[in-house]
Amino acid sequence: MRTRPLKVALLGCGVVGSEVARIMTTHADDLAARIGAPVELAGVAVRRPDKVREGIPAELITTDATALVKRGDIDVIVEVIGGVEPARTLITTAFEHGASVVSANKALLAQDGASLYAAAEEHGQDLYYEAAVAGAIPLVRPLRESLAGDKINRVMGIVNGTTNFILDRMDTNGAGYSEALDEATALGYAEADPTADVEGFDAAAKAAILAGIAFHTRVRLDDVYREGMTEVTAADFASAKQMGCTIKLLAICERAADGGSVTARVHPAMIPLTHPLASVREAYNAVFVEAEAAGQLMFYGPGAGGAPTASAVLGDLVAVCRNKLNEAKGPGESAYTQLPVSSMGEVVTRYHISLDVADKPGVLAQVATVFAEHGVSIDTVRQHGRQDGDGEASLVVVTHRAPDAALSGTVEALRKLDTVRGVASIMRVEGE
Ligand code: HSE
Repeated sequence: MRTRPLKVALLGCGVVGSEVARIMTTHADDLAARIGAPVELAGVAVRRPDKVREGIPAELITTDATALVKRGDIDVIVEVIGGVEPARTLITTAFEHGASVVSANKALLAQDGASLYAAAEEHGQDLYYEAAVAGAIPLVRPLRESLAGDKINRVMGIVNGTTNFILDRMDTNGAGYSEALDEATALGYAEADPTADVEGFDAAAKAAILAGIAFHTRVRLDDVYREGMTEVTAADFASAKQMGCTIKLLAICERAADGGSVTARVHPAMIPLTHPLASVREAYNAVFVEAEAAGQLMFYGPGAGGAPTASAVLGDLVAVCRNKLNEAKGPGESAYTQLPVSSMGEVVTRYHISLDVADKPGVLAQVATVFAEHGVSIDTVRQHGRQDGDGEASLVVVTHRAPDAALSGTVEALRKLDTVRGVASIMRVEGE
């Protein structure tokens, strides 16, 4: 084994960074044996130098991240500060100074992955980012490497633990959204400002990354259709139960049947209880991959948290260090096609629509006509008259697959009917 250590600099020492440093220290001998050389923590850039950081020698701490990445003797930079800047500049500076990069930065990769890959390529360095999507779950490397010989047609996953926890509580306890969010906050799952999670921004960044790798094309955050889950109600869950479904916030990336385009979207959806993703509870993540030769695969595990995310970072660190020792390079960007990303209106999906309607002759025919006029075929209809004698009935319509634009046009037209008193719930149905 080589005795001269590989030097690693850590940018950020929060929940994930501190776990990376801890594992590097406590597992130093095993890591050295696996890599073929010792790894040395050579510097740690932080914002608050006065904070006590157990196990990290004070002389390694610096607030000057730029100077650290420019040192010239660093082999690998581990970036766990998140956000677009200064992370982007630090990463490209690291490449220019001969370091490979392991990053957990989903926002940056989703927004600007192509220029990071280009910078890594230009300087002959590695860019690994397993921790950016679904925490500890090996997903990026299976897609980039293990499935590189297959053709992936669909990736559908639960890639945000906070929202899965909230939806799971709403499902199992009958809790409302606010109550379930309060519990997620109290247990430390939800941030003080939960917007990125509950509005689907976090999942959308992950969807962009997954779609790009899976379909060998460029998909940016702005290409991903996004709806959060703050509007999901107890009534939606009641409707889902009647259908033998539950509700999940899904990230769905699909290749069009003709192979000529792709789509990426994040929104709440009903999925049958028999679908493997329906059994993903609490704050767990899971991603269901459909490939031509492999068939259906599911990746499951903890998608967040310090130690699980550090596990993914360390796996990348070992791989990148091995490459450094062998003077080799891992896979770069594999976006050799430039497939257009279709809009949400072109996505083909199913709707579950729950309406409050006047309970009188001809209403069902009127509603059915609106569907027909928009070219949407109805799969099932359920009607319950009300016992309270208010002359209204609940009508639940589940459609066959149709373009999303046709489905949303149908709902718009239904809202205009005098006999439709209200639209109680609209939810896409996936996974059938
Ligand atoms: N906040 C994310 C989640 C973890 O709840 O899954 C980081 O992406």
